[in-house]
Amino acid sequence: MSKAALVAVQNLGVEFATRRGRLKAVVDLNLAIEEGELFCLVGESGCGKSVTALALMRLLPEEALQSGTVRFRGRDLGSFGWRDLSGLRGSQISMIFQDPFESLNPLMRIGDWIRETLEAHRMLSGRAARQRVLELLEEVRIPDPERFAKSYPHEASGGMRQRAMIATALSCSPSFLIADEPTTALDVTTQAEILSLLSDIRKRRGMTVLFITHDLALVSQIADRVGVMYAGRLVEVAPSGEFFKMPQHPYSRALLECSPRLEVLGAPLAAIQGEVPNPLARPAGCAFHPRCPIAVERCREEDPALDHRGGDESHQVACWEWDKWL
Ligand SMILES: Nc1ncnc2c1ncn2[C@@H]1O[C@H](COP(=O)(O)OP(=O)(O)OP(=O)(O)O)[C@@H](O)[C@H]1O
Ligand SMILES: [Mg+2]
Repeated sequence: MSKAALVAVQNLGVEFATRRGRLKAVVDLNLAIEEGELFCLVGESGCGKSVTALALMRLLPEEALQSGTVRFRGRDLGSFGWRDLSGLRGSQISMIFQDPFESLNPLMRIGDWIRETLEAHRMLSGRAARQRVLELLEEVRIPDPERFAKSYPHEASGGMRQRAMIATALSCSPSFLIADEPTTALDVTTQAEILSLLSDIRKRRGMTVLFITHDLALVSQIADRVGVMYAGRLVEVAPSGEFFKMPQHPYSRALLECSPRLEVLGAPLAAIQGEVPNPLARPAGCAFHPRCPIAVERCREEDPALDHRGGDESHQVACWEWDKWL
């Protein structure tokens, strides 16, 4: 890998103890996110994208069993105490979610909310903090920051609330931003505005971004690299151009074929046959084999690891039959 990894994930596993048994939400995930890149994580609902993001932040609920290592700038977050982690989240890593309403405090004016975050992490207070809030609101293109700072979350539109969340996330000047479906709840026009805003901020601040989305058309526009998750595993990782030109995993191809705004493979729009497997009962072998159009005997028995199968260092796939398409 040419550039330094800002975030390096090794053998990440996340299990939940449920009444019906152990639910494997993330299985043996390895990933290095490079400094400055925008990495998109895609996959159907329930594949483990959000759980992976929360594991990186070490924000999983207590009942989650997290294994493996997550390193940030080479430091193992597993060795961090509560205070160190909280410091890191306040100064280096931030996250924005799909529904900003859940993250803002409904009883607090938006400006006070952002100011509290500033005061908690950056030790700014009084007039300096208030001034900084206005600057942040300006940075996220709020037309009248003074007035907006005095409003409550329910008075703001979805797009404005997401801007407020982005301002809160930026308040600690993070070098790494995780955006978990930040535009899914918004209408198309607002989505485009928020995306262009995020893209500008990222360029200006030189942030590294992990962007989680279902929208492959969007991925094709913004991603430097793409990672595809299926049933808790990363099944393909590739530079964006490479991925859209020549996806190697049958699941990636299926996702592309049923993506409404893309006609990458020239195939008619189709739905992927079958369903994502129940995480309490993963199929033996490759978890995708029951839905896979090209599965062979080996796929039912052995689970392929994510590897550079075609000799291209940057393109990894977890499939025995990856070269069927070539
Ligand atoms: N606190 C929890 N307790 C038990 N199971 C959980 C918990 N959180 C997540 N899961 C399970 O972990 C799996 C992965 O969930 P996750 O939220 O990461 O999916 P996702 O890829 O983000 O889906 P979506 O696209 O719908 O957001 C799912 O089967 C989910 O039900
Ligand atoms: Mg999710």
